[in-house]
Amino acid sequence: MVLASGSGSLLQALLDEADGCGVEIVALVSDRDGVAALDRARAAGVRPAVVKVSDHPDRSAWDAALAGTVAAAAPDLVVSAGFMKVLGPAFLARFGGRTINTHPALLPAFPGAHGVRDALAYGVKVTGATVHLVDDGVDTGPVLAQEAVVVEPDDTEASLHERIKVVERRMLVETVGALVRHGATTTGRTVRIP
Ligand code: GRF
Repeated sequence: MVLASGSGSLLQALLDEADGCGVEIVALVSDRDGVAALDRARAAGVRPAVVKVSDHPDRSAWDAALAGTVAAAAPDLVVSAGFMKVLGPAFLARFGGRTINTHPALLPAFPGAHGVRDALAYGVKVTGATVHLVDDGVDTGPVLAQEAVVVEPDDTEASLHERIKVVERRMLVETVGALVRHGATTTGRTVRIP
């Protein structure tokens, strides 16, 4: 099960590599209509669903509706791959501990919706990507995988983000494959994938 809000290139990497790493993408859920991630899912024969905040009276109702939609697909693992909403208590009550997220920075540095822009603005020489377990914070869960990406002098947010996404796609496929095959054990903030 994948959650996505945008172009879905990370979703596409999972779709392309699913068979090779023994994974089945059972569904795609977005919080927005008309995004390329939905088209990518349809083209791959994966059922897409949209759960919009604006269709619900408040954020907690949306959170509960999202949890219900995800539960209908009965996933073993939920992958947030460019999903731009914070998952709330109702969702985490059902899928906490088996939901992972990918973030385009070396957490805990530069959390939030603009990790690439913030890193560039700060003037770092190295940034990167992080795959982590989702907890009740924003980009704060235990780290599963990280990889550095050097910032080039002429980088723009777009050029740097594209190089980070190359790393994210590979790291996400590797991490999802390992989790599905071996699972993970968590001791405090340390996660081990055998
Ligand atoms: C990724 O860099 C992800 O870490 C961030 O949004 C981007 C999504 O990329 N949250 P795409 O929509 O999968 O191309």
